[in-house]
Order: sequence, then structure tokens, then C-alpha cells
Amino acid sequence: MPGAVIIGSERSEIGLPAGMDILRRGGSALDAVEAAMRRCEDNPADHYVGTAGLPNAQGVVELDASLMLGSGRQFGAVAALRDYPNPISVARAVLEKLPQHSLLVGEGAALFAKECGFTTADLLTDASREQWRKQVADSREAVEGENTGATEGDRRYRSSALELIRRLAPHDGPWGTINIIALDASGEMCVGVSTSGFPYKYPGRVGDSALPGAGNWCDLRAGGAACTGRGELSMRGGTARTVVDLMAAGQDPAQACRAALADAATLPDDYRSELRALALTPDGRHGGAAGQEGSVYALMTESSTEPEFRPRVVL
Ligand code: GLY
Repeated sequence: MPGAVIIGSERSEIGLPAGMDILRRGGSALDAVEAAMRRCEDNPADHYVGTAGLPNAQGVVELDASLMLGSGRQFGAVAALRDYPNPISVARAVLEKLPQHSLLVGEGAALFAKECGFTTADLLTDASREQWRKQVADSREAVEGENTGATEGDRRYRSSALELIRRLAPHDGPWGTINIIALDASGEMCVGVSTSGFPYKYPGRVGDSALPGAGNWCDLRAGGAACTGRGELSMRGGTARTVVDLMAAGQDPAQACRAALADAATLPDDYRSELRALALTPDGRHGGAAGQEGSVYALMTESSTEPEFRPRVVL
């Protein structure tokens, strides 16, 4: 039996030690992933998950998250969830307390979070509000000038600015969704994904992070995989599931990630940005792939004192 392992995408390193503490004490992969992801969601310096996540085009933070277990492929997810800072925990509640369903969105997800006793918070921090204002301020005023009211030209300008943002956003650094995958001492696996989604997205847009097969897949017969980056591509590629299917066919995790990304890369997409994949097998092998040199993922085993970084193979 391999020892416990936990891996995560860029910026998960802030949460992985909490997950490994749980695994070392014999705790479950589900508990470990949730605890690790909550640390990431609560990190105010991270503008791509949870509190301080970048908002949609109307300035409202909408969060997607999911959890999948390997033994029975149980899945719980929430999408376009407003006002609740830890969507990963609400996703867990869907998985455990609402087994007749797998995915709740928007108002229904918020109603369920309230019924479960989760507390609300203002997710738009001063820093994230400022970033949004700079880029997509919703204003009835002229784009520039003496507050004469918006002309048709102003409206056209604003809509072309939005178009530009959709095309170019984000950003500095890697896309911000976080993937965390754990293998516990009993051999169970869990994959968790959390995100505030594409910055300045159309309100109600749901990405791959909430969708089984696209951003998240876990099957104890072969392993677990998750994606970060352009969710519309991994939805169309079924990318997380493709990674796991390729591992089931004998590929190692890094090879499988690269092949699944290569498949998604064949799809036409005018809004293409990078897609990354990460995977772990039930015997503790791990790997990842990305479109850029120098991309890494974080890893902790039972003997780790802190997260180590491993290179992803390049597409
Ligand atoms: N991969 C995150 C998203 O597209 O929302």
C-alpha cells in the first residue's frame, strides 16, 4: 500500500500542509482535500478562489467548486454560488447530504448553503473591487469627459472594452483555479476543484471546475485528475476524464495529462488560453502537464516537511 499523498496546482501549497496533517493522522482523502482547499479559499491574496476572487462583469463574485471520490465516483458540486466563502464545503454538503443530486447552482446553491448553516461573507475585497473597477466599471456616465451621460459611442466603446477583457483577461501569472488531489491510507482518493472562474465572466457562467469529466474526475480503478485554465476547452474535451481513461489504458500521469491537453488543443477556440492538467494514481504516482515551460505542481508525502514543487511536462 503506498503512503498518503496530496498534490495540488499552483498556489495550493498554502493549503497542502493542512491536508497532509489530516492524512498523517489516518484521516480521509475527502477531509484532507476540503481542509486544504479551505485554506486556499480563505487566502485574501489569491484572486482566483473564494474570498477575494475576481468578480463577474457586474462586479459580483460567483464561485464554482466540486469534489469527487474515487471508490464510488460520488460527486458534489456548486456553481455560480454567491456570498459563501467556502464553496468546497458546500460542494461536500451536496455530496453527503443531498445524495439525490450532484450539482446545485446560483440561488438554489445559496439556499442549500443557508439551510446547512454556512455563513455568508462579503467576498469582494477592496483589492478585488479595485481591480474590477479599473477594468469593467459599470457606469451610465460618459466613458471620458464631463459627465454628460453616455452616448451611443460611449456604449459601443464600453462593449468593445468588455469584448477585449473577455479576450485578454486574465492576467498575471497562471490561471487561478486550484486543484487538490489526495490519496489516503485506506486507499481512497478524492479530487477537489475550486475557482472564482474566468474574471469578468458573463454572470451565471459556469466553468469546468463544477463539472464531472471536464475539470474533475476520480475513479479508483485508475486515478484522479483535474484541470485549471480555459474551462470551456476542458468541457469540450472532457479533459479530466480523458486523463483518467488514458491512465486506465496504461499511460503514466504526466503522459496522460499531456495527451489529454493535446486532444483539447485540437479544438477550434477563438478565446483560447492555457489549459493545465494534474493527476494522481491509486498507487501514488503523480504528474502534470501545461502549455508553458517552467510550470509546476505541489506535492506532499507523509515524509514531507513542506510542499515540494515538481515540473509539469510541456504540451
Ligand atoms: N477552469 C476554471 C474555469 O474555467 O472557470
